Amino acid sequence: MSGIPDHIIDQVQDRVDIVEVIGSYIPLKKAGRNYKANCPFHHEKTPSFMISQDKQIFHCFGCGVGGNVFNFLMKYERLEFPEAVRALAQKVGVVVPLRAGESRQESSLFNKLYEANELATGFFQKALKEDKNGRDAYDYLIKRGLSAETIKIFRLGFAVSAWEGLLNFARQKGTAADILEKAGLAIQREGSGYYDRFRSRIMFPILDMKSRILGFGGRVVLKNDEGPKYMNSPETVIYNKRRNLYGLNFSWNHIREADCVIIVEGYLDFIVPFQFGVKNMVASLGTSLTEDQIKLLSRYTRNAVIIFDPDKAGELATLRSLDLLVEEDFRVGVVRLPEGGDPDNFIRKHGPEELKKRISEAKSLFDYKMSVLVSRYDSAAIEGKTKIVEEMLPTISRVPNAVLKSEYVKKLAGMLFISEEAVREELKKIRKEPSALRSEKQNNEIKMNVPDKRCRQSEKILAGLLIDDNKCIRVVKENLILDDFRDPFIRDIVSVLFKNNDEAVCITPGKLITYLRDAQAQRFIPELVDCIEAVIDKERTLADCILKIKQDSLKDKLNRLQVEIALAQNRADEERITKLITECNVLLRSVKLYEGKTAETQDKTVEAQGS
Ligand code: CTP
Ligand code: MN
Repeated sequence: MSGIPDHIIDQVQDRVDIVEVIGSYIPLKKAGRNYKANCPFHHEKTPSFMISQDKQIFHCFGCGVGGNVFNFLMKYERLEFPEAVRALAQKVGVVVPLRAGESRQESSLFNKLYEANELATGFFQKALKEDKNGRDAYDYLIKRGLSAETIKIFRLGFAVSAWEGLLNFARQKGTAADILEKAGLAIQREGSGYYDRFRSRIMFPILDMKSRILGFGGRVVLKNDEGPKYMNSPETVIYNKRRNLYGLNFSWNHIREADCVIIVEGYLDFIVPFQFGVKNMVASLGTSLTEDQIKLLSRYTRNAVIIFDPDKAGELATLRSLDLLVEEDFRVGVVRLPEGGDPDNFIRKHGPEELKKRISEAKSLFDYKMSVLVSRYDSAAIEGKTKIVEEMLPTISRVPNAVLKSEYVKKLAGMLFISEEAVREELKKIRKEPSALRSEKQNNEIKMNVPDKRCRQSEKILAGLLIDDNKCIRVVKENLILDDFRDPFIRDIVSVLFKNNDEAVCITPGKLITYLRDAQAQRFIPELVDCIEAVIDKERTLADCILKIKQDSLKDKLNRLQVEIALAQNRADEERITKLITECNVLLRSVKLYEGKTAETQDKTVEAQGS
């Protein structure tokens, strides 16, 4: 199905540890034999996301997600199954054969570009210390308040002024010009040859969550130096600007801890406050946030505070771009720093405590937008009121929570002295198909996680016990056949376990998920594992479950037989009736036999309790 041979998938899974993998994305706390965390897939303040090392699975009691290491990666990084396998394979050094039609060049091209960026960063870092102009740039950064340590942490550098500075260095190191070009570091000349894209600039590497370098921002040293103030890497096969946020690899744990992300604009607006201890930040690099970026942030928090450049603070276009955050269920606050002060200036002038204070006093987006609008339009005149409502409603309509939305409507109407009814009428006219569609999709997802109601407790517990201890398989196999299981997912699960016992391989729940082909059956595993947590006497419980399933199965068969007998009677097919009745009697005897057994077990229980 994935095109990757099963034994390779097995090998990958054998070499990775789910705790290590998940721990590299989110902070984990040890909780007895397990690990727990705040669920990265829904918003919560107390951890209900559990990871089991021996079982190699995760499960969230809050939202119901669960699975093995591949499922985690698929969900977290939004990968398809084969991509998740490949990603982990690379980490643990398992070679995955190429897909049909996939060129080896392509997958290694990624690595070559990362390597080229790494090489360039080293070159830039060295030049910041050793090149004559580089030292000026270094002094400039120090003058702006950056410490030597900070310069090192963020791997800041300097691109020399030569046209082929990096190109020559790379050539010596065996990296071809066309690779630099593909990495966005060199530009092809009209005739032939290449030249460095970045010259005489302070270089800010842009890192991904794995601290690989995707691209660069290059700032002129002095504002009146030639060219635009910032020159940025173009999009490349490894750099997708819409999917990355500057600084997140440094700040994600602080964002989670603070349960709040502060969104700033520029590289230095991130770096300087970070150095001074305000660390729960990301930088949008001067563009408005994309849905992908917001999704990325929502793994860590649903609270955002935007720090606006005072020049842009009144721009409605910038404010409108925040509606996307509202739509993704973020609580949005807005801070406007005094004239001429971006976060970097502000913190150097007033210190981190003052910045933190301003952030804690952030106005809600609603209030902030209202104050901008009221200063722009005459809120006493009809036209002004109409304008203000028109601007506010797109924001309000995106609030996912109905109660909150209704509160905003009330507030808006109250502030403008207009009827709430009228505001509601207007709200209805706002197009909101996209978000409506999205929430429906989410609902479906949640529904899928709800286990099948028809599934009986005895089947669940038996499956749980089988998964917990593969040694039970033999007993179950001696007593039950696959047909005895009513639930199709449990039947799948048991069938995989039965098969694997033949080969005498012990499989963890994590492995079992890999072997199951059906996604719904896969999703079931964590729940099955959990449902036997409270079971004390496993042996007896197993015996009881086998019995119960057998009885139910026999009863099911009996019911089916009775239907068939009725049908045969309708046709007056005497021969068939006789045959069916004989079968029925045999079955009835079995049912009696099994009922007797239950009584016996129950008697024993009573005895045990009595003595
Ligand atoms: N930016 C850009 N291209 C420009 C100007 C700005 O890509 N020509 C982006 C950069 O990512 C920059 C951010 O927008 O960091 C904010 O711009 P600005 O406030 O002008 O720059 P700062 O980073 O604050 O730089 P400085 O404080 O050194 O002036
Ligand atoms: Mn600035």
